[in-house]
Amino acid sequence: MSVDRAVFPEDFWWGTATAAYQIEGAAAEGGRGLSIWDTFSHTPGKTHNGDTGDTAVDHYHRVGSDVKLMTALGTNAYRFSISWSRLLPEGTGRINETGVAFYRDLCERLVEAGIAPMATLYHWDLPQALQDRGGWLDADSPNWFAEYATVAKERLGDLITTWATLNEPWCSAFLGHSAGVHAPGGADPGEGFIAAHHLVVAHHRAIAAMRATAHRREDLLGIVLNLIPAWPASASSADAAAADAADAVQNRLFADAAFHGRYPDEVLSCHARYGVDARIDLADLAEARTDLDYLGVNYYNINRFEHVPGEAAPRPWPAAEEARLADPPGTLTEMGWGVEPAGLLWMLERVVREYPAVPIYICENGAAYVDVPNDKGEVIDPERIEYFTGHLAAVAQAIERGVDVRGYFAWSLLDNFEWAFGYDKRFGLVYVDRDSMERTVKASGRWYRDFIAGK
Ligand code: FCB
Repeated sequence: MSVDRAVFPEDFWWGTATAAYQIEGAAAEGGRGLSIWDTFSHTPGKTHNGDTGDTAVDHYHRVGSDVKLMTALGTNAYRFSISWSRLLPEGTGRINETGVAFYRDLCERLVEAGIAPMATLYHWDLPQALQDRGGWLDADSPNWFAEYATVAKERLGDLITTWATLNEPWCSAFLGHSAGVHAPGGADPGEGFIAAHHLVVAHHRAIAAMRATAHRREDLLGIVLNLIPAWPASASSADAAAADAADAVQNRLFADAAFHGRYPDEVLSCHARYGVDARIDLADLAEARTDLDYLGVNYYNINRFEHVPGEAAPRPWPAAEEARLADPPGTLTEMGWGVEPAGLLWMLERVVREYPAVPIYICENGAAYVDVPNDKGEVIDPERIEYFTGHLAAVAQAIERGVDVRGYFAWSLLDNFEWAFGYDKRFGLVYVDRDSMERTVKASGRWYRDFIAGK
């Protein structure tokens, strides 16, 4: 498989992506307040091995050399997330100037190196102080987020033009409040829908607040969704119905809310079914609705669903009654996910078909494999190279078919804290030694560099 590099426009953004809690460490330094991921990861049994992000990969102390790594990879953009509790330790109110300085320093180095910063405001790490006030289940949470967005834009907006409000709100809502596998660990499907509602309202209020704050014409404000194709496991109509219901929660809930300020019918039925309709004010969403400047799409794999009589609705997709996630076909990554670039092309074309036209950035794409340095200290990872090649070919095909893709961010720059999976899963283009924190560019990183350079 090969990819035609010439298909990608001249000014295309070639980047890598990370998230604050996964890489920064320095959890108790620089005036940072605690987040729900500190609490969750320190709760016995919640993460693989009891791993936490306390030190992560020590990026907080290695910003200079990490930016140099990005330069060595030849990237011209970098997507990172801001830790809300590093900026506002209590979530609202008092600003932590050390935190502001940390992100200003990162962005200044990026700009200096000719790497465009793309900042995500919320990559799952709600300040614990706000969780103590009810977190995303509290109707005030969209206003807390709008305040934070305003502070971030006021303090960093001269250095950052491209902003994402939320990263993968499906994870925050349904993995965090319904499936119990992400912070804050809630396991109530109704609460998944309440959290989802406050998250999407928060997204719109943040966009409105940021547009009212030192806004420049070139500023781009958007959201990053993990649009995962939800396909039926077979040609049966029962499997098709299961897949459709899962799709409503995974994809249409968030895309309909972001683009149109409303929910699909299956989601409205769930509000009633789970008895939470009185806690979800649909008018709030409709009134808060803003326009997106771009859509961020994260893509890893395809999910297939099968109808199983008597089976409870799967917690991450509570609209799908009597359904189960089926095993993926083919060789799997270390996450147990299939390698199916066709799903990326399919999803991009679907977005164009079903939603208003906006520029699209692929904000995450990548794979975990077992990486072991050889006796020369090199990490040779041909499966990851194959994964990237296949998916970049899908992006190229999408561009050729007229999809307006403006950038691609490989997940991830560095091996890092993979949430509940701890440090067990490595996604980096750069290998990180867990003891010394030494960074080694993997063969896939060199491949990405050569591809970007057109070699
Ligand atoms: C995405 C997350 C990212 C990382 C990758 C593997 O869902 O946004 O932080 O964990 O998966």
